[in-house]
This record gives sequence, structure tokens and C-alpha cells, in this order.
Amino acid sequence: MQLLDLVNLPKAELHLHIEGTLEPEMMFALAARHGIQLPWNCVVEAREAFRFGTLQSFLDLYYAGMAVLRTAEDFRDLALAYLRRANAEGVVHAELFFNPQAHRAKGISFLTIARALKEAADVIEAETGMTSLLIPCVLRHLDEADGMRMLDEVLEHPELVVGVGLDSSEVGHPPSKFTRLFRRVRDAGLNVVAHAGEEGPPDYIRQAIDELGATRIDHGVRILEDAELTQKVARAGIPLTVCPVSNWRLGGCATLADHPLPRMLDAGLNVTINSDDPSYLQAYILGNYEAVRNSMGVADAQLATLAKASIDASFACGKDILKHENAWMRFMDKGKSRP
Ligand code: HPA
Ligand code: ZN
Repeated sequence: MQLLDLVNLPKAELHLHIEGTLEPEMMFALAARHGIQLPWNCVVEAREAFRFGTLQSFLDLYYAGMAVLRTAEDFRDLALAYLRRANAEGVVHAELFFNPQAHRAKGISFLTIARALKEAADVIEAETGMTSLLIPCVLRHLDEADGMRMLDEVLEHPELVVGVGLDSSEVGHPPSKFTRLFRRVRDAGLNVVAHAGEEGPPDYIRQAIDELGATRIDHGVRILEDAELTQKVARAGIPLTVCPVSNWRLGGCATLADHPLPRMLDAGLNVTINSDDPSYLQAYILGNYEAVRNSMGVADAQLATLAKASIDASFACGKDILKHENAWMRFMDKGKSRP
């Protein structure tokens, strides 16, 4: 039997931090563009520094790297590079996270970044038919008032985004810290997503759903520690945007073979496969699908189902979901007709 062609399998990427796609080559090019000194002498040295034991050790580097992102042009170039690469790996729809609060001190507004990312998304949609949406994320290590200032900017241009997320250092910063902020997000008619259960306990997943109104959970890999919550989330079909290579590289599991994804599937959870911060974690979406196939023994038929689930779990409009589902069905039909 022929292997499923994972490259061309139509899929959606729903957990992707655009600042986490900054490859060392572009980091050095932007540093030169703006006369910024990086803590490494060359691309090889930078890449060697991309070894992490925990979420925090990664985040320290992630925030240091984004210092080179200074202008609308930088964000547009970054997004164009990611979207082209993702599309070449079969991504038909992407939802891009970004952290406006992390750029404010450099004098770049939410509006500048969102418009630059949207410009890149429009270029790629015109070229390939791939669609993209934007989700600014609140930095949970800062206080709610800081996040509210970001939300004020977002709500002046809600048409630029499809929702608001919650990310950064998880432990000690529970979702409940942001109840008021996400009530405003929901009142504005925007979707809520939240990182929860990456390093934090299952109760953070519960809080994200019950107290913030999250309709999709980012990571959520610790959910199996709570059987009742697992059953509730599985029954409700709430999608979990899992990033297997990220979890492994940030110490969530000792080896890829130990990753809970197969057990999450057995529990009936609505899992999707994503890349998180592909430059720093050294795997784009294809690398993540390959890890699930090669290290976790998930069968090709199931991988195809997960790709379809990712399209259905997206916030794309009905017309775009239908378009991408049709691409998935045509791809699957072609596979059946091969000898
Ligand atoms: N978790 C939390 N915050 C993040 C991540 C992540 O995986 N990536 C970028 N910011
Ligand atoms: Zn993430």
C-alpha cells in the first residue's frame, strides 16, 4: 500500500506564532537592516543556541529574537516567508498568533503589525488560494491591565482579527487572571482561544473553557491527568491544537514516542497537529505530521482524518471551509484511484 503523501495533504495550521517563524538567516538580515547587535556571531551559532529544556528557556530566546522586528516591512517579510513555506507543506489555511505587547516598547502598534500581516496574507491568497486569519495573543506574565491596553487597540479594528488568544509563561498565570479581559473579547463577537495545559495543570484547561469562554485550547496535552475533564472536552468536541515537536523540545515528554497524542486520540479528543514556533523548535507542520507518523505509530488513515479535523476546527468562514474541505476530498479521491 502506498504511503499517504503528507506534503500535499490539505491541512490547516491553527497554532503558529509568527514571531516563532523567525529563521536565524532572516534574524541576521533584519539585524543588519536596523543596525542591531545580536547575542550570536553567526547563523550557525544562533541555531546552536536553539536548545531548550523548558517553556521559559525558549521564551527568553523568543523575546530576544523578536527585537529585530522593527517595521511593517519586517512583519510582512516574515509572514510572506512563513506562508510560502507552509503552503509548500500543504497548508491551505493558517491562523497566525502574534504578541502586540512584546513590540509596544519598540514603538510598533497593533495596527501596524496587523495590517502588515494581512497584506502578506492577501498576497499569498491571491497567489495560491491559501487563506489566513490573525489572532493577537495576550501575554499572561503581564497584568490584566496591560492586556486591556492591547485589547483597546484591537477593538478599534476588530475586522482585522478573528479572535484573541492567551500565551507566554503558563505556570503561576492561570486563565482566571484574565476573566474580565476575555469577557470584553466575547462581547465584541470575537473568538477566544488560550494556551492551557502545556506546562500548567488540567484545571487551567477547565478555567480557559469555563471562565474565559475558549472554544479551542492550545496544547492541552496535560488534559489526560483529569479523566472527567477529558470526557467533557471529548464530548463537547472542543479542538486541541497540539504541537508534538514543541512539547518534546520543551521537555513536556522525554521522547517523541512518549508524547500523549495517541492516548488523546484513544480518549476521543478532537486533536489537530501544528508547529507552534517552527524556527526555534526546528520543525514546520510537515515535521510534526512526520513525527506523529514515525515516532507515535499513528496510521495514515488517521493522519488524513486529523488534517480534515484541522480544517473543520478553523475559524475560516463557511465558504473557505467548504473550499478547503473540497480540496481535502479531491486529494483523498486521487489517492484511492492510484494503483
Ligand atoms: N507557549 C506559550 N507561549 C508561547 C508559546 C508556547 O508554546 N510560543 C510562543 N509563545
Ligand atoms: Zn504556542
